This record gives sequence, C-alpha cells and structure tokens, in this order.
Amino acid sequence: MSTKFSNQVAVITGGSTGIGLAIAKAALAEGAKRVYITGRSAKSLDAAVTTLGTAAVAIVSDVAQQADLNKLKSEIESRGDQVDALFANAGIAETNELGTTSEDEFAKSFDINVKGVFFTVQTLLPLLKEGSSVVLTASIVANKGMPNLSLYSASKAAVRSFARSWANDLKTHKIRVNALSPGYTRTPIMENGLKLSAEQIVALQEQAKETVPLGYVAQPDEIASAALFLASSEASYINGVELTVDGGLTQI
Ligand SMILES: NC(=O)c1ccc[n+]([C@@H]2O[C@H](COP(=O)([O-])OP(=O)(O)OC[C@H]3O[C@@H](n4cnc5c(N)ncnc54)[C@H](OP(=O)(O)O)[C@@H]3O)[C@@H](O)[C@H]2O)c1
Repeated sequence: MSTKFSNQVAVITGGSTGIGLAIAKAALAEGAKRVYITGRSAKSLDAAVTTLGTAAVAIVSDVAQQADLNKLKSEIESRGDQVDALFANAGIAETNELGTTSEDEFAKSFDINVKGVFFTVQTLLPLLKEGSSVVLTASIVANKGMPNLSLYSASKAAVRSFARSWANDLKTHKIRVNALSPGYTRTPIMENGLKLSAEQIVALQEQAKETVPLGYVAQPDEIASAALFLASSEASYINGVELTVDGGLTQI
C-alpha cells in the first residue's frame, strides 16, 4: 500500500463528485487518516461516503456561506483534527453571454468560485498545520478566452492569482499554496453546469482527438493524481505555481 498521505487529514471542498471525489479516493488510497468532503447536496455526499468508506466525513457546506464554512471548521475541530492538505476545489462552470448576463449570474459565479475559495482558506487557516499544503482548483480557462465563458474564466483567473499571493502571505507558516488547472475532464460539471447534451459531450470528445495532443478528455483520477502530488512532500519546493493538467491542449 502507498503511504504518501500516511496518517494525514485532508479537506476537499466539492468532494462529492468529479475531481474532488477522485482526490478524496486518492488521498485515502495513499494512507490518509481522514478526509473531509463538502458540497451542497446531502444526497451526493451520502453517495460519496458509501464509495469512500468510514474514513470519509461528509459535511453539507456551501462555500459561498460563511456560516457553512464555520460549521466545517467546527466539525473538524470536534474530531480533534488539524489539516495537512486543503483542496479548495468546489466550483461551478456556467456559460454567460456578454450582452444578456444578469447581476445574479455574475454574483453566483464569483460568490462560489472566488469568494468561496477565499473564505474557505481564510476560515480553515487556524487549522492548517505548519508545513501543510493548499491546492486551489483553477482551470485552463484562466488563461484563455473561450466563447461565452467570461465569468467562469475571470473567476478562475482570480483563483490562480490567490495561489501567488497566498504563497507569500503564508510563508511564515511554511504553508505552500499552488493552483491546479485541469483541461477537459469528464465530470458531472459538463451536464450540470455547462448544460452540455449527451451529443455535445460526444462532440467534445471527438474534438479532443484533434485539439488535445494526448487525444482524449481526462478522467477525474488523472487530475486527482496531480493534485495529490502538489499537496505531497514530493512537491516540497513547489510554491505559488499553476500546474496545468490538460493533455497538452494549451501548449500547442
Ligand atoms: N471538469 C472539468 O473539465 C474542469 C476543468 C477545469 C476546472 N474544473 C474545476 O474543477 C473543480 C471540480 O469540478 P468537477 O469538474 O469535478 O465538477 P463537479 O463534478 O460538478 O464537482 C463540483 C463539486 O463542487 C461542489 N460544489 C459546487 N458548488 C458548491 C458550493 N457552493 N459549495 C460547496 N460545494 C460546491 C459540488 O457539489 P454540490 O453541487 O452538491 O454543491 C461538487 O462536489 C471546479 O472548481 C471546476 O471549476 C473542472
């Protein structure tokens, strides 16, 4: 058995499905003592815990709500845990058209993707161990201008920026902060957020054969392994960077 995270505690916001769930699975496979996963849907979290087992603690907690983040902190404290690895991963991806975007749409993207990440890290800061690691899930869109994704892209550019600033802000605690930018990854965000139909997902997979050097859309565990690397001692001198995991899409 692998032991990269032996006896460690990890917190994964948005850990009920997709990339976050894959990170939780990988952390447990690497020996984590406990993983805390969050999301808004109790049903999705219950399903995740069934998969992950008793070392997973699921907490219904909306990253856009400070009271919910306080509850997450209290739940961790109540078990006497401190945090070795924090994955601020919860996020939404919704399209918006410049010209018809409402203030509510703007607020939703930024409340979850930007404010949510900021206050997740700020709230859990007192529980982060000296020498611990924070991994922020950004996206390749932070550096691209894809059609009808201006809010999502700008929100992820802010997340990428947080990694730089916090690497500096947290240096006295020896806490490393890095951003992870996945490319196309097959998760429920395609249906739930981007509202892609089954046909559109197949079309995206076909398009990936041409546009992604590796020729396919990633599975969540391929992103999770990179997230775990960034959080682990193997990345002990990696700080403030953006690790792009996109099969080469944005390099050509
Ligand atoms: N899939 C991709 O192609 C891709 C590419 C680049 C970056 N990303 C990023 O990767 C991260 C994970 O996305 P995913 O692809 O794994 O999608 P996903 O399967 O939809 O997972 C999103 C997770 O975040 C949770 N979440 C959403 N809003 C939340 C909130 N307000 N508070 C707490 N939890 C919340 C979801 O649970 P609930 O809905 O129940 O709250 C779910 O657990 C996101 O930040 C996304 O932007 C994804």
